Amino acid sequence: MRLEELHQKVAEASQVFVLTDENVAPLWLSETLHWLGCKSSVDIVIAPGEQQKNLKNTQKIWRTLTQHQADRSALLINLGGGVITDLGGFAASTYKRGIPFINVPTTLLGMVDAAIGGKTGIDFDGFKNQLGTFAEPLDVVISPIYLSTLPERELLSGLSEMMKYGFTHDPNLLKVNKDNYQDYILRAGEIKRMVVKNDPFDEGSRKVLNFGHTFGHAIESYSLTTKQPLLHGEAVALGMGAALWLSVKERGLDVEVLQSYMKQLTVLLSGVDGLPAETDVKPILKYLSQDKKNKNGQTRFVLLDRVGSPVWDVEVKLARIEEALEYILDKASIR
Ligand SMILES: NC(=O)c1ccc[n+]([C@@H]2O[C@H](COP(=O)([O-])OP(=O)(O)OC[C@H]3O[C@@H](n4cnc5c(N)ncnc54)[C@H](O)[C@@H]3O)[C@@H](O)[C@H]2O)c1
Repeated sequence: MRLEELHQKVAEASQVFVLTDENVAPLWLSETLHWLGCKSSVDIVIAPGEQQKNLKNTQKIWRTLTQHQADRSALLINLGGGVITDLGGFAASTYKRGIPFINVPTTLLGMVDAAIGGKTGIDFDGFKNQLGTFAEPLDVVISPIYLSTLPERELLSGLSEMMKYGFTHDPNLLKVNKDNYQDYILRAGEIKRMVVKNDPFDEGSRKVLNFGHTFGHAIESYSLTTKQPLLHGEAVALGMGAALWLSVKERGLDVEVLQSYMKQLTVLLSGVDGLPAETDVKPILKYLSQDKKNKNGQTRFVLLDRVGSPVWDVEVKLARIEEALEYILDKASIR
């Protein structure tokens, strides 16, 4: 959508609401409202972090909309990282059966993944994205200018999701690093849009975007119960390592792909303090057993035959899954 069209959508809204967090608000809220041509808005500012992607904050948004008598022509602008776009998208898509929302991602991870594709959601009872909807934003506005204030650890977290597209679709994205990532933002977003277009409801080919995420979500959920929570992209980075290990064992993937990734993983995890020394695979396996992609109690993985050739719905024996987790926790020296 061009800027003039965006201005028109904002002007047409009966009321504009903005959801953002306490880190992003002082840096970018007024500037964003200015260039969106928004003259008045109701701003909802929440604390930052994954723990905020919860029912309480969903209720806070619903309540604010209700108190301001928002009708179905009201517009919600989600300004922030994946936590904000997931949470805001979920609240908007369920309020009065759905009001329009625009995602303005301010993290790298948001720009290449979370803000695109219409998956919304919140965490519930300790499980990631347990409640959610499929709801497409009216628009996703990408502006790398926001990345000028993003902490390095968050940037690295976004690089993991970009590398995911390297493994599943375009090997060029495996070259992405801290210095060149700007060159690959559009390509990564293009891949996500293409995959979503072909399978909007995650019934088949879209599942490849879960490469590394089955392990990753379980590791992330576990880490959120510790004093050293990992960022989403960091957990996914570990998850991709485990998925590559499984791919070597189960699908004959060239072991050099795994070896070369393990070197990059050190950089991706350079901001991590580590998981507690007593971390065991058992509680992580418990989270795996709740994965949304499971069928008949069986955990299913996206694995690679080769780089760029993913296969999905692969069932793997429990002992192998445990081995993969042990491998990655040890090799990444994360505990
Ligand atoms: N819906 C999807 O398809 C999808 C895909 C991938 C990830 N996700 C979700 O995205 C979430 C992770 O997103 P994230 O990594 O963007 O995390 P995040 O939203 O928690 O943002 C990371 C941190 O950076 C801060 N921040 C954001 N923009 C900033 C900026 N420009 N300058 C300074 N600080 C800034 C935030 O306040 C926060 O502390 C997870 O909940 C994950 O499940 C969703």
